Amino acid sequence: MENKAIYPGSFDPITNGHVDIVERGLKVFDRILVAVLENPKKDPLFSTKERVTMIRKIFQGRKEIEIKSFHGLLVEFAEANGSGTVIRGLRAISDFEYEFQMALMNRKLAPRMETLFMMPSLKFSFLSSNLVKEVFMLGGNVRDLVPGLVEAKMREKLPKRGRIQI
Ligand code: PNS
Repeated sequence: MENKAIYPGSFDPITNGHVDIVERGLKVFDRILVAVLENPKKDPLFSTKERVTMIRKIFQGRKEIEIKSFHGLLVEFAEANGSGTVIRGLRAISDFEYEFQMALMNRKLAPRMETLFMMPSLKFSFLSSNLVKEVFMLGGNVRDLVPGLVEAKMREKLPKRGRIQI
């Protein structure tokens, strides 16, 4: 039987750090389901449809990577999609408390569900979608931080950006 992991997140937008975790996940699992949270709490920059479309384009032609949006409980969505393992990227100690709480809550809800934490490449360990958005809005360069098509979409969405004061 195929071993499928679910990789959930807001992905607003997907960064190179997320892409790195998907590729690492595929060293351990046959398939990865990237699960995009619909309507995250924070006001998203990209709609669910836009986030899913971008991620599908990034992984185009990769049959081992599936992309779907979800709402409601993650563990229910994972079970309905035949996955018993949640993958999460762990960048720094500051991520730990939030991730620990989520993993144990998910275990309480679905005792058979396991959470596997993976470390991104060191070069992405400072990266977050929120920081990428902030840097971009202030006129900074995000070229090495997000896939090219994400940067292009950010330019479309936020044509009027600030300038960095030197
Ligand atoms: O990228 P994010 O915003 O850190 O991802 C958070 C996510 C999507 C993994 C989390 O918010 C989630 O799983 N939401 C679904 C609702 C749920 O199942 N909540 C209870 C478990 S904590």
